[in-house]
Amino acid sequence: MQTNIGKKAAGEKAAEYIKPGMTVGLGTGSTAYYTILRIGELVRGGLDIRAVATSAQSEELAREQGIPLVDFDKVEKIDIDIDGADEADAQLQLIKGGGGALLREKIIAAASKEMLVVIDEHKLVKHLGKFPLPVEVVTFGWELTFRQLSALGAHPVLRLKDNNRFITDNGNYILDCHYQKIHNAPALHTQLNNVPGVVENGLFLDYASRLIIGHEDGSVREITHPYPTKTSF
Ligand code: A5P
Repeated sequence: MQTNIGKKAAGEKAAEYIKPGMTVGLGTGSTAYYTILRIGELVRGGLDIRAVATSAQSEELAREQGIPLVDFDKVEKIDIDIDGADEADAQLQLIKGGGGALLREKIIAAASKEMLVVIDEHKLVKHLGKFPLPVEVVTFGWELTFRQLSALGAHPVLRLKDNNRFITDNGNYILDCHYQKIHNAPALHTQLNNVPGVVENGLFLDYASRLIIGHEDGSVREITHPYPTKTSF
């Protein structure tokens, strides 16, 4: 894989926030990849942490790196979750799910005291929506769900992989919804999740507490959430 300097810089920077004894959520994607590699180095250097993965892909990488993993259902709390995003705005609202892991990513983000988001500078946008919004739907009756989303103006497209239907780690499909510009993200979030057959959508609103943006020259910039961090359990 060719190194993306911005993604690497952001991904590695985030690992600095991990402290001994923490339970860490491991994100998915090509930026979280660098965080996982860095955490692997730290663990091999003696850092005592445990981790939960947001996807089978990240779980495999964490295992290769020797990062101690724990099942999500055995975890009482997650101290910090570090994950990528497909788009982020300056208010730390996100679109995620480009890699198809949005459901587990959202469950883990919701269970984390803090969510750090690692992106390269190209993902920072004024308005969310240019990146198609992933919506995870159950396979049963998905055509009906598709039609209902179409009627709501979502312009859905069934995600394919190698000419076959893309299947998530949870056995569902993804409909990528083409809005171009999302005007009222909270209303859209509610509208989408109210459609029968929709499991979850890729809008992550008020989850992130810190956005770490990596630049092509290797520098990083951080934006923190203006509101207190949500704590779930
Ligand atoms: C995975 O489902 C996604 O939510 C990723 O976190 C997101 O697509 C960012 O991935 P990259 O860092 O590879 O762009």
